[in-house]
Order: sequence, then C-alpha cells, then structure tokens
Amino acid sequence: MPKVTLVDVFKHRITQKYLRRSGIHHAVTVAHYAFDLAVKSGVSPDLATKSALLHDIGHYEWYKDGKWDYEEYRKHDIHAIKGAERAHKLLIRLGEDRLVAKEVSLAVLLHTDSYLPFSLTEQRTLLQEVVEKADRMDEQPQGLHHYNKMSPSHAIKLLSRLDDKISDYYNNNQVRKEHT
Ligand SMILES: [Fe+2]
Repeated sequence: MPKVTLVDVFKHRITQKYLRRSGIHHAVTVAHYAFDLAVKSGVSPDLATKSALLHDIGHYEWYKDGKWDYEEYRKHDIHAIKGAERAHKLLIRLGEDRLVAKEVSLAVLLHTDSYLPFSLTEQRTLLQEVVEKADRMDEQPQGLHHYNKMSPSHAIKLLSRLDDKISDYYNNNQVRKEHT
C-alpha cells in the first residue's frame, strides 16, 4: 500500500508552486497513462504514477509574450535534473519511504534524454520506460500539451479516483498472493 497518496503529492506546497508551469492537465493525464502501462508491464503502479505526476515538475517558465518559447527551451532546458531534485525533496518532506523517493527521482531524471549528449534508448529500467512512454502518449508538437487546462479541484477529483485504483490493485494482488 502506498505510504503517500497522489492527492497528498498534488496538494503539497512544492507541487502547487511548480506543477502549473508545465501544466496540471499534462501531469494528471500522464499519471493515468502510467497506471495502465505499469499494470500491463508488472511495474509498481505506485512508483509509476508518482513519477509520472512529477516528471515535469522541474520546468522553468519559458514564456515569451504569454507563449511557451520552444526554441529557448530546447537550447537551455535541464528540467529533468531540477525535477529529480524537487520530486525527491517533496516526497521526503511528505514522509515517503526513502527508496520510493529515490526510484521516483531517478525516473524523473531519466524520463527524457533531450538534455543529454547521449541516448537512453534501451538503457532505462522498466519503471523509467513506463514513465517515458506515458509522457510521449500525451505529447503534442511544439510543446502544445503544456497548454491544456485543468483546474486544481478537478485534478484532485481524478487523482483521488486513481489513488483508489492503486489501493485496489495492491489489495487484489495481496489477496492473490495469499491464495497461491
Ligand atoms: Fe512531459
């Protein structure tokens, strides 16, 4: 059973401060994709959904005249590095297990290789692959996926439903284990 829920993560001050930059809609959508992919590939849905929700928390505001300056972003972006640190810090503050915080932080760090001088294809763990795939499923050209809107109250509603699905998953798997 997850120690810290997605709603806990979403409501935290650090998440509220930084998640809006890259868009609540994108973060919540990617968390849902990550749940399905995790269940399919036998990865922990707790780790996958937390990593997915937080994968873009390191974004700097690349806005110019009210629009995302994509050119500037491609040139100077290190959001995965900043995000890994922010995700780790906020999970530790929430009292999360330190191994979970480390795994999530690494999945955030490696969800993209666009800032690295080498490719991560076939280098990722299953969890990291799930997060990378989930992110790509919601991607639109020129970073348009960062513009889709979702209110914080709607995000909490959806995340609380996803938290229930995650609890159900662990309860069912526990029952299955006990019967084998
Ligand atoms: Fe993303």
